[in-house]
Amino acid sequence: MTRIVITGATGAIGTALARHYASQGSAGSSQGSAGQGNQLILHGRRTDVLEQVAEACRRRGASVETSQVDLNDDDALFGWLDSLCEPTPPDIVIVNAGMNINIGEDGRGESWDDASRLLQINLRVPMAMGNFLGKRMRAAKRGQLVLMSSLAGYHGLPVTPSYSASKAGVKAYGEALRGWLAPHGVGVSVVMPGYVSSKMCHEMPGPKPFLWQPERAAKRIADGIARNRARISFPFPLNFGCWWLAVLPAAVSQRLLKWFDYGEGTH
Ligand SMILES: NC(=O)c1ccc[n+]([C@@H]2O[C@H](COP(=O)([O-])OP(=O)(O)OC[C@H]3O[C@@H](n4cnc5c(N)ncnc54)[C@H](OP(=O)(O)O)[C@@H]3O)[C@@H](O)[C@H]2O)c1
Repeated sequence: MTRIVITGATGAIGTALARHYASQGSAGSSQGSAGQGNQLILHGRRTDVLEQVAEACRRRGASVETSQVDLNDDDALFGWLDSLCEPTPPDIVIVNAGMNINIGEDGRGESWDDASRLLQINLRVPMAMGNFLGKRMRAAKRGQLVLMSSLAGYHGLPVTPSYSASKAGVKAYGEALRGWLAPHGVGVSVVMPGYVSSKMCHEMPGPKPFLWQPERAAKRIADGIARNRARISFPFPLNFGCWWLAVLPAAVSQRLLKWFDYGEGTH
């Protein structure tokens, strides 16, 4: 049986991941064994939605626990993670909860209160979880951490400065953890999706080329996790384009963003 923790399980990608792993006999990693239902620990804030997701996963054969611990409260978060590490750390922890904000339709700019809340859940929480679980997994010589970044982490998008910064931070943090933990048998993957249909995605202004459904994204993510990929980024055309934005001279990248309708005041 594979133990899998998913935060943000009430959102589009989190729910799709939960359902995907619930349908599998094992998570497909070398740590799972076929023929046994996976054990899912699903985190979410909205009780009714979380229960619906949990029930759907139980019907697929998984055993499911839920948690509504406040991820933004360090003591509560570390207490929860400590309990999850008994008797051993989980096999896979997917740090998926996150939010997005933008500069507004008139390009007025982000509110600092919103930006602070975003940095808390998008960057500080993944770092807190990586800090705690990285040490526990290292000591146990097992486990896999999966951090949710975004293609927006390659190069900042003018309409979402704080989101881009948080996802660039998650990318760098995950890459660093991978190097630290690999010699100890612990896997770390950074996930960089393009546009995946969700509340957050549709609330964001601007074009959404190559939009994927959450189920397709979940399958791609789970395949990458099973292979312990350092970076799980998709879809290919958008990944390739965003990757170039990071390697080209900055002035060229800025101009390309404007051409492709991602500049300030273009929505
Ligand atoms: N969709 C995309 O196009 C896309 C692209 C790249 C990366 N991503 C990343 O993928 C992850 C999942 O996003 P999604 O598309 O599935 O969005 P979503 O449907 O809006 O789900 C977001 C999830 O995060 C949870 N969450 C938000 N703020 C939280 C907080 N302060 N404390 C605890 N939980 C919180 C939400 O909980 P509630 O249900 O309680 O609100 C929800 O479960 C995010 O990290 C996002 O940045 C998404």
